[in-house]
Amino acid sequence: MINFDFETYTKKFINIKKYNELLKKRYYYFNKLKDQTMTGFLKPISNALLEEIIITANYVKDNFDCMVVIGIGGSFLGSFAFDKMFKRYFNNDCFEVIYIENFSSKYIEDLLENLNDKNVCLNVISKSGNTMEIKILYNLLKDFLKEKYSEKELVKRIIITTDKEKGLLREEANKVGYKSFEIPKDIGGRYSFLTAAHLFPLALNYDIKEIVEGYFEGEKLFDDAYKYAVIRKLLFESGKYIENYCIYEDNMYYFTEWLKQLFGESEGKDGNGIFPASTVYTRDLHSLGQFIQDGNKIIFETVIKVNNNYTKNIYYNDMTISKIIDVIYNSVLKAHYNGDVPNIKIEIENLNLRTMSQLIYFFMVSAAFSALLFEVDPFNQPGVEAYKKKLLIDLGVEYE
Ligand code: PA5
Repeated sequence: MINFDFETYTKKFINIKKYNELLKKRYYYFNKLKDQTMTGFLKPISNALLEEIIITANYVKDNFDCMVVIGIGGSFLGSFAFDKMFKRYFNNDCFEVIYIENFSSKYIEDLLENLNDKNVCLNVISKSGNTMEIKILYNLLKDFLKEKYSEKELVKRIIITTDKEKGLLREEANKVGYKSFEIPKDIGGRYSFLTAAHLFPLALNYDIKEIVEGYFEGEKLFDDAYKYAVIRKLLFESGKYIENYCIYEDNMYYFTEWLKQLFGESEGKDGNGIFPASTVYTRDLHSLGQFIQDGNKIIFETVIKVNNNYTKNIYYNDMTISKIIDVIYNSVLKAHYNGDVPNIKIEIENLNLRTMSQLIYFFMVSAAFSALLFEVDPFNQPGVEAYKKKLLIDLGVEYE
């Protein structure tokens, strides 16, 4: 169960007349969204594909010690965020999935050393198949595998997730005969949660049928997704240019990274959009909390609070730890609101696959509505392409 409160801690900043006008225009925006070409993320996924993903995941678990996932941005962050959210902090008994977090030299050095004694397979994910970081990491790891295994053995260890027809990865998968999954034409990277890009790595440890069911339960949140987009837009118009996603559970940190990626790339274009940021409370109340409460008044917050009673048996005096966190949460809401920082509340009854998958649907629909309200294309990323193109030129590679 998810509860939204868009109004209690925002109302003094909102132009109510405009709010009501925009709410009346919801069918106009619903239709506008449905008229877009890149809305494959609203369509069902086939049972045949789900079965194929599960069979491939079982094959990986039966034959290897671990799987390394190579990807970046939207086609990668969703599964990484879910893995971080649902894996226990200590002593988990999960199959080892190593998500390459970033293109950084120390990380790559340590990773290669760590993989030395392991029986490894790779999942390379790139919709375009041409992203430079992915190309380099893939070739590095392929060379690493080549030193240990024959070409024939390599074919069993590489699984590619990419576009059906285009890009270097697709060419290679077809030529060499690697197992491959498709990211459908009408689904962009950051909207690809319900494709093999995310479901395959997740299938190694989680019930992806539960994830799919939860996702489509998100359809009932369509109205709320629109409302959230409208409130954000009106806060922006009142001078709140930064949205700070706040959480109280550290395991949701990468979920806020996913959110920043989704909203930042969907609406930050043509000189427009809200800048997404994130904080982890209570930790950051002792750092950025100062700025938020007392600094430049350009920030509003969206707080995602889990009501899970994780610590129901852990008492400090006569209060459980989760009760203490609830008290902090309510105090912070009031203090920030009184300090002219509006807050949108999203409360989740249980942090589980089903609920978080619903929330993924909610945020993706909302990001698309937001971009439409800002009159920009939700599904392109010309700013990112500009960097990719410049990098290829600087590296002396042709841009495709
Ligand atoms: O959301 C997006 O479209 C981007 O963040 C891409 O996922 C990212 O740039 C990686 O692109 P690709 O999957 O084509 O390698």
